[in-house]
Amino acid sequence: MLSSPLVNDRLGWLSDYPFTRLATLLSEITPRANVEPVIMSVGEPQHAPPALIDEILRTKSHLWGKYPPVAGTPEFRASAGGWLNRRYGLPAGMIDAEKTILPVAGTREALFLTALLAVPESKAGQRPAVLLPNPFYAAYEGAAVMAGGEAVFLTTTRETGFLPDLDTLSPELLERTALFYLCTPSNPQGAVAGRSYLERAIGLARRHGFVLAVDECYAEIYDREPPTGVLEVAATTGGDLSNLLVFHSLSKRSNAAGLRSGFVAGGPDLIALFSRLRSYSIAGTPLPALAAAAALWDDDEHVVENRALYRAKFDAAQSALEGRFGFYRPAGGFFLWLDVGDGEDATVRLWRDGGIKVLPGAYLTRPDADGVNRGSSFIRIALVHDAATIAEACTRISKIL
Ligand SMILES: Cc1ncc(COP(=O)(O)O)c(C=O)c1O
Repeated sequence: MLSSPLVNDRLGWLSDYPFTRLATLLSEITPRANVEPVIMSVGEPQHAPPALIDEILRTKSHLWGKYPPVAGTPEFRASAGGWLNRRYGLPAGMIDAEKTILPVAGTREALFLTALLAVPESKAGQRPAVLLPNPFYAAYEGAAVMAGGEAVFLTTTRETGFLPDLDTLSPELLERTALFYLCTPSNPQGAVAGRSYLERAIGLARRHGFVLAVDECYAEIYDREPPTGVLEVAATTGGDLSNLLVFHSLSKRSNAAGLRSGFVAGGPDLIALFSRLRSYSIAGTPLPALAAAAALWDDDEHVVENRALYRAKFDAAQSALEGRFGFYRPAGGFFLWLDVGDGEDATVRLWRDGGIKVLPGAYLTRPDADGVNRGSSFIRIALVHDAATIAEACTRISKIL
């Protein structure tokens, strides 16, 4: 908790960030001497980033002296828009790259700032609500709280298809909802929202006047079917982008988490206001990096290769863990979400006895409305190493737990 009166006391509502909590949990524990540590707690792709990043950074080195414009460059916006059109088969003209796309310095900062964009002082005369899935990407909660909204955690379990159940949202709640963060494919469970789900979510946003922020940063990491995108669904309702923001990132798609590059697309009104807010706040992606990012959005080949590598990782994990801990093969993303009974205890044992670092599920969840923290029995495992390392690590996990 905060002890200084000199800072924004909303910070006191936030717990330590999940990886800080993990470091605290494991601070006194040293893995046994004869095991090679494998860090499976962080969703940081380990495949080499495409070589074209280096090539482009070299040719654009004269641009390091320039401040990155908030709107990025026409080239970047055209590449991002071109990718959206290819990936989702959008009709010509739906994406106006000048008005509906902004570059972001990684989607985390943009997801965070979205709450400052979307949460007013009050909504329908009440404290605004920010809806988020439970479990959730930590930035959503930080954003909701720091923007002065009430974070409302929506239960997601196997029974709800690991997505918030839209039928449980009461009219009273919807009336004061300012923002709804939806993640598809979801982190950590890898659930994908289908067309009708997204259509309903868009309908609710428009009917109740809130922003639907769809985090699709795992859109390109999938097992069988390309996940439906919210823009694809918007296309079938006349291409209307109102109330919508969608977030895409190169961190997972192109193994380029360090490039800090993604983009947000959405309705022109929201994008114009977001641009105004961002003028006051963001650092931006440097122009050489933005040029490399544009080239990455233009290239789909490395993404196809990437996907094949992820499938091999899931094959390896499946061989070792199928039939245990509620193992399932997620439709998207690169995480395992395993029910191990006591997630913190399992995390400690895996680190101590196997040198395997995972994340307790409870660090990604809050208690649901009934007071039960349904993440407590889970661990999250990032399948980001090569398939042989994963096979070996998952065998260790299976033996230790
Ligand atoms: C669900 C989700 N959204 C957004 C991000 C942010 O990614 P980046 O800021 O690298 O684009 C992450 C990163 O792990 C994530 O898991």
